[in-house]
Amino acid sequence: MAENLGIKKVGWQSPSNIALVKYWGKRGKQLPQNPSISFTLSECRSETYVSYEQSDHFGFRFFFEGQEKPAFGAKIEKFLMDNKASFPFLDQLNLTVESHNTFPHSSGIASSASSMSAFVMCLMDIEAQLVGKQLDDQKASCFSRLASGSAARSVFPKMALWGTTEAFEGSSDEYAVSLENVIHPIFKTYRDSILIVSGETKSVSSRAGHALMEGNPYAPARYAQANENIRTLLTALKTGDMGTFITITESEALQLHALMMCSNPSYILMKPNTLRIIEAVRNFRNETQIPLCFTLDAGPNVHLLYPESEAEHVDEYIKNVLAKYCDEERWIADRVGDGPKKLL
Ligand code: PMV
Repeated sequence: MAENLGIKKVGWQSPSNIALVKYWGKRGKQLPQNPSISFTLSECRSETYVSYEQSDHFGFRFFFEGQEKPAFGAKIEKFLMDNKASFPFLDQLNLTVESHNTFPHSSGIASSASSMSAFVMCLMDIEAQLVGKQLDDQKASCFSRLASGSAARSVFPKMALWGTTEAFEGSSDEYAVSLENVIHPIFKTYRDSILIVSGETKSVSSRAGHALMEGNPYAPARYAQANENIRTLLTALKTGDMGTFITITESEALQLHALMMCSNPSYILMKPNTLRIIEAVRNFRNETQIPLCFTLDAGPNVHLLYPESEAEHVDEYIKNVLAKYCDEERWIADRVGDGPKKLL
C-alpha cells in the first residue's frame, strides 16, 4: 500500500441458518465429518461494520452493540491470526469491528454463523478494495467455514449444502454450495418460527459437542446415516416432497440430541417444554394434515418449519397452544432469506 488510505469503512449483514441435515463432528482444519444442508434465514442476522486504516502493524478492536468487548472479538482475532498468510495486507492495517445482532441477546440463538460470515464478507470486501480481487462466494464460504463451520452455509440465499457428497456435483468439504437453483419453489417460501423455550446460554458449547463425537460409539453409524439422509433430502427438495422432508428433518433433529445423550460425558440440552412442543406439533400435523414440522439446533429452542401458505393456521396454533411453552411466550418469526447483503 503506497499511499495513506485515511479511515475507510465497509459494512455487511449476514444471516443465521438452520440445518436440516446436521453437521455434528469435525476433523482436520474445520472440515465436516458429514455433509449438511440448511435453510438460510432472513430476520436473525448480524450487521457488521469494519473500519480500516493504514498502520505499521496489525491492530484489532471489537465492539459489540456499541461497547468494546475484546472477549467477543477473540474468535475473530484468532481466525485472522490463523489465516494471516491468506491476507498479507492485514500486517499493515488497524481494524475496528462494530457488530450487532438483530435477534435478542438472550434468545439462545447461536450467532456464530451470522457474525462470522458477516465479518468474512467485510474482510473479502476490504481485500477487493485494497488488492483489487473480485468478491467471490466460494472463497467467502471457505473462510467463513474456517471461522465457524456452519457459517460456510450462511453465504448463500435460500438453501446451501456444505460437505462432499456424490449426490451433488461440485459439493465440497472446503466450502458450501448454493441449492437455490435446484430446489422446488415451495421450499423458497418456508417460514421458520423459532420458539424460545429458554434464552439461557447452553451448558455445553457446540465446540465441545463436536469434540465429544470423537469418542462416541455411534459416530460411524451417524456419519453413514447423515450421508444417506443428504441423498434422500436432496431428492425431496428437488421434487417438492414435503412428506419426506418432514421425516428426514425431524429424524435429524432427534439424532443430533440422541448423540449428545450418548456421548461421554452425556448431556441433555432439551427441556421438558421442548418435548411438549414436539409432541404437540406431531399431534397437530396428524389432526390437520398441515405439513408443519420441527427441527432443533444444539439447544432447547424449537424451529417450526412450514410453507408460507399455512402461515395463518400455524400462527394461530402458536398463539393459542404453543406460546405457553415458551420463555415469556417469546418466539421469533423468521423465514427463508436471501443471504448476505452489503450495507456500506
Ligand atoms: O458451526 P458450529 O461449530 O457452531 O456447529 C453447528 C452445529 C449445529 O448447529 C448443531 C448443526 C449445524 O449443522 O448447523
